[in-house]
Amino acid sequence: MNHFINLKDISAIDLRKILIDAKKRKSLRKNLNNLDIDSGAPLKGKLLIQMFEKSSLRTRISFYLAIKQLGGSTLTLRPDELHLSKGGESIEDTAKIISSFGNAFMLRTESDKKLEEFRKYSSIPIINGLSPNSHATQILSDVFTIEEIKKKSISNLKIAWIGDSNNVLNSLISASIKFSFKLNIGCPNLYQPNKKMLKYIKANRNKILIFNESKKAASGADVIISDKVISMNDKGNKLKKLRHFKKFRINKELMKYAKRDCIFLHCLPRGNEVDDEVFLSSQSKVWQQAINRVHVQKSILLYCFGKLR
Ligand code: CP
Ligand code: NVA
Repeated sequence: MNHFINLKDISAIDLRKILIDAKKRKSLRKNLNNLDIDSGAPLKGKLLIQMFEKSSLRTRISFYLAIKQLGGSTLTLRPDELHLSKGGESIEDTAKIISSFGNAFMLRTESDKKLEEFRKYSSIPIINGLSPNSHATQILSDVFTIEEIKKKSISNLKIAWIGDSNNVLNSLISASIKFSFKLNIGCPNLYQPNKKMLKYIKANRNKILIFNESKKAASGADVIISDKVISMNDKGNKLKKLRHFKKFRINKELMKYAKRDCIFLHCLPRGNEVDDEVFLSSQSKVWQQAINRVHVQKSILLYCFGKLR
């Protein structure tokens, strides 16, 4: 059994195994419908319990489809219907009950500490469906999409992140270290990765560069990735932050600094950090990126259940 909480805690070998499995499984589903089950139904009889303390469209549906296609099923809990949310039951007792009724637990939460607590008291795999510090399932899936489109290993590509230093970027930084790819980060000085992340970058290697100018970060990039300036857990002055990011908007002009065949990715939902002329252009692969969540999460589930082929 394995948990899937933060990319930094999973070996590069296992992450690569997940991607290889996802590629094989995706290619075998060309003529299947969304609810058709993969041959062998490897997770037949298994129940994934999921709970969202914050909004979700893609993660919710992609995990639903992922476990269905493996022969299992999902139950989605509403946090406000649990005793836990009102302080009427501990994480320890909740985790023990979920562990005996279900076979894996996926949690989108306001608190990284809560994920750790669930991990401590659960006897089933815990999956992070987004937390303030990490969006691991998203980024592993994005690595898959990049390699699928570019038809080469991500280690031979230059990725540029133009945007806030948030959960998605933290996972991208971990991915850069695990898969050894060049990562340029373009963000205003005030919004650089936090001290812990800077220390992690420094301790591992220096293929990651930080620029306070979007053009420099985008220069020569194979892929430009962005995300909303304001994340769900953002508590600061939003208008001020949006003002600080004005020069970091992704538009056609900025795309010219990247390679001619550069693609644009965004985990969605979007704000106004990207112009429609880029978002809706042929360089934008955001819809392919979204649907790939299903394929990669199937292999993540198999990894969690110790069933990767
Ligand atoms: N990208 C992503 O996680 O989308 P949702 O918030 O809709 O799940
Ligand atoms: N950084 C964003 C990602 C949404 C999928 C957020 O946390 O709100």
